[in-house]
Amino acid sequence: MWSGTPLFPESASTMASRVDALYFFLLALSIFFSLLIAGLIVFYAVKYRRRAADSVGSEIHGGLVLELTWTIVPLLITMVIFVWGASVFFAMSRPPDETINIYVVGKQWMWKFQHLDGQREINELHVPVGRPVKLIMTSEDVIHDVFVPAFRIKADVVPGRYTHLWFQSTKPGRYRLFCAEYCGTKHSGMIGQVVVMEPSEYQTWLGGGASEGSLASAGAKLFQDLACNTCHRPDAQGRGPVLEGLFGKTVTLQNGETLTVDEAYVRESILQPAAKITSGFQPIMPTFQGLVTEEQLLELIEYVKSLHELPQVQPR
Ligand code: CUA
Repeated sequence: MWSGTPLFPESASTMASRVDALYFFLLALSIFFSLLIAGLIVFYAVKYRRRAADSVGSEIHGGLVLELTWTIVPLLITMVIFVWGASVFFAMSRPPDETINIYVVGKQWMWKFQHLDGQREINELHVPVGRPVKLIMTSEDVIHDVFVPAFRIKADVVPGRYTHLWFQSTKPGRYRLFCAEYCGTKHSGMIGQVVVMEPSEYQTWLGGGASEGSLASAGAKLFQDLACNTCHRPDAQGRGPVLEGLFGKTVTLQNGETLTVDEAYVRESILQPAAKITSGFQPIMPTFQGLVTEEQLLELIEYVKSLHELPQVQPR
């Protein structure tokens, strides 16, 4: 019913109706209380108007029922908003277990997308309809922000770390993608499109276009080229930790702390190897800061991830 209203974007994801429902609730609540308050102001202004030039108002000393009412009712209403908002927030921040993972790198002033199969795109993102998609995002320079109004999703893209966003589109089409964080002179031109396709169409699209192999295979090559394999050997005889099966595991660091190996940790370990040394190893690895691009980092991360998944068939 709102599709013809220019104020309102199309709804094209599973999250859209949930966000809209909460939004309309807030809107209705605001309208109700605005009208109530404005109405009462007018009503009482008329009712208690000064009738004689020398009349004086009578003093009022509290009213327990009234005070409790205007305390408890707003409390209940704000709690409803809080719980409702939190449930939508959790749904947004927790992607389903099986997602199509796509890497996003923002830079002044374009969006770069990398599919695991190796396809690369600029300012255009192709996804299949009805499948959950997870974006793993970082920036090459300043803070940007991915915003797809039709999906009701938005998240900052921050240099030096990975942020996530997920969505499941509900109908094929082309949807606008904006940068929603001022990032320099051409910020307003940092726009793109999400192209949602039927699954069969998407498969055709994936198959087409010259691809240099999957991200993981590009990472494997890079791993050799940078001679990482001389220290990170699968047989535990190397000077660095074994990477096979490492991703997703919990490791103990030299200082006794533990952490789960995720994209951020692998990235940090490549750029600042000494930051978090696994216990039992020496801080002898050189930094690769400046030697690998953000895209190459993603390839290396995918390679490390693929080592984790080697024994089984990767679920897709
Ligand atoms: Cu990128 Cu604004």
